[in-house]
Amino acid sequence: MKRGIFISIEGLDGSGKSTQIKLMEDFFKERNFKVLFTREPGGTKIGEKLRDIILDNDHREMAYTTEALLYAASRGQHVKEVILPALKEGKVVLTDRFVDSSIAYQGGGRGLGEERVREINDFATLGLEPDLTIFFDIAPKLTLKRIEAKEIDRLEEEEIGFHTRVYNSYLNLARKNPQRIKIIRAQGDILEINRAIKKILIELIDNIGNK
Ligand code: TYD
Repeated sequence: MKRGIFISIEGLDGSGKSTQIKLMEDFFKERNFKVLFTREPGGTKIGEKLRDIILDNDHREMAYTTEALLYAASRGQHVKEVILPALKEGKVVLTDRFVDSSIAYQGGGRGLGEERVREINDFATLGLEPDLTIFFDIAPKLTLKRIEAKEIDRLEEEEIGFHTRVYNSYLNLARKNPQRIKIIRAQGDILEINRAIKKILIELIDNIGNK
């Protein structure tokens, strides 16, 4: 059965992912790929409800374990309803955040442990892994400045220590998975960042073409 290409985009809040994801979408469309852009909870009915529970500023008593399980549950639904069907149709699936977000935020940031969080996510996603993950590398101090300007949700409200733990956890993941996770320095100008991403995407397409 023909299988598409699965790409996740990761980084701290305010790292500039959204602008670049649009450009990535254009990159694939220009080359006649069918693209599905998605973000968790992926527009699934069940996922949206779970997301509202997770991010509600009124839910300050939520246990970190509950938070991690709800993210995993929402992701499981996203995989089944949205991601797997699109991959089966041969599409390029671009997702704004996937399992690495939970490993970094809940595993590292909340201190639940990266392996434990990976395990519940493997259960939820049936072990689905991206072919490529792009990590937007930008210092937590800078991203916090960027998000100060907008309305913030329960997770963005966390202090610098939390964001630094999340950041370190991402870097750690990237170091452990150099084949899958590519680090993009996300501080510079939009076109320069885009050029670096395009280089990675071209390599990916070439590799898949040669398989
Ligand atoms: P998201 O909707 O991606 O927000 P943004 O568009 O601002 O990046 O994510 C909302 C928050 O949830 C964000 O602070 C990251 C956090 N998050 C986790 O802690 N764990 C996860 O598994 C995911 C997907 C997001």
